[in-house]
Amino acid sequence: MTQRVLTGITTTGILHLGNYVGAIRPAIAASLSASVQSFYFMADYHALIKCDDPARIARSRLQIAATWLAAGLDPEQVVFYRQSDVPEITELTWLLTCVTSKGQMNRAHAYKATVDANVADGEDPDAGVTMGLYCYPILMAADILMFNAHRVPVGKDQVQHIEMARDVAQRFNHLFGQGREFFVLPEAEVEAELELLPGLDGRKMSKSYDNIVPLFEGGAKALKEAIARIKTDSRLPGEPKDPEGQPLVQIFDAFAAPAERAAFREALRGGLAWGEAKERLFAQIDGQIGPMRAKYEALMAHPERIEAILQHGAAKARAIAQPFLAELRAAVGLTAFTALPVAGTTVEAKQALPLFKQYRESDGRFYFKFQGADGRLLLQSSGFDSGRDAGQWVARLKREGAAALAGLPAERVAGVSEDDVAAALAALLAAAE
Ligand code: TRP
Repeated sequence: MTQRVLTGITTTGILHLGNYVGAIRPAIAASLSASVQSFYFMADYHALIKCDDPARIARSRLQIAATWLAAGLDPEQVVFYRQSDVPEITELTWLLTCVTSKGQMNRAHAYKATVDANVADGEDPDAGVTMGLYCYPILMAADILMFNAHRVPVGKDQVQHIEMARDVAQRFNHLFGQGREFFVLPEAEVEAELELLPGLDGRKMSKSYDNIVPLFEGGAKALKEAIARIKTDSRLPGEPKDPEGQPLVQIFDAFAAPAERAAFREALRGGLAWGEAKERLFAQIDGQIGPMRAKYEALMAHPERIEAILQHGAAKARAIAQPFLAELRAAVGLTAFTALPVAGTTVEAKQALPLFKQYRESDGRFYFKFQGADGRLLLQSSGFDSGRDAGQWVARLKREGAAALAGLPAERVAGVSEDDVAAALAALLAAAE
């Protein structure tokens, strides 16, 4: 099966060079692979949680859409849409909200951080906490599960949200699936630390440090001005300079081939003036993003073109979401009355099936267990380092049955024989045929 990769882009603020190197460029490169189907969307409902200024919301999502398109995202190859254009996502959010425990939301980092800050300030713990912030992870789970994404590239701060999406998916599958796995359990894919670009002062490039280099906004002039502000040491022209650890050099690296990197370092060791080094850096970056900036400006001058692209993307997304949501609604009991069996006729009861459950323990490791159709525990796995390892064992057991038991790292369950386990696996296998 093709792997589906999905990621959301929060539409607040303007994009900088760090966003380009760390997120946009790798995502676009990955979307070109033929073996994946990519979904990129603007999380504009998520943006409402953080911002109540309509003009900013409107402007930011336009700029961000234009940026991704100008940077080379191909809307024919990927599904590119706005979250708010796909109402099925918010409908799914409610179905998921009804199977999400409040206790789990209490543990979400973003919410907890706000509560902690309130307590530290002597405020009411929930001061300024909206239900939007509190339920943020459920909307995010709906974003992911609506399209049954296998992989979700995100920053480290978002990993907990993906784990929550897995939990919610599992609970829904268990409660309403009747043996069918409606939702794929998504895996987080964390960007490598390497991709983090330093800002003007050497700390990570971030709006909150006020050390960014804008990507397109402000044109070449703004790029040049930002580069002029990059911190260097005070060595004079002609003096040999140590390139290592210099933010200027690290930013150059992100836009250069290995031979160019070596030549730049060599020139600095040979006494290249910082002013001149900055000019080279500007030329290097502008050579790559200059043509994209021209495309960006052309798009921004024609919002109707961007609108048409996104409407097309929304139609593609809804072609998947609508039929799937109809199945999910039916699964929870929201069907047309005409689809119900007429009173008095007997309905064949669906046979319960044995069931795998994957979960993560507080020790941070990943586990699964296998339960009989009657709910009895049959198999308890040992801890795995990753959810993927655990998932692979589950997939093998489902595929190969008892043959896969040899070699499985698992605890003995008192009172359960290998034959019991083998019989339950066989029942599962037979039902899948
Ligand atoms: N919360 C994510 C962020 O702030 C954005 C986002 C919303 C997202 N929905 C998503 C990312 C679904 C991945 C998948 O970065």
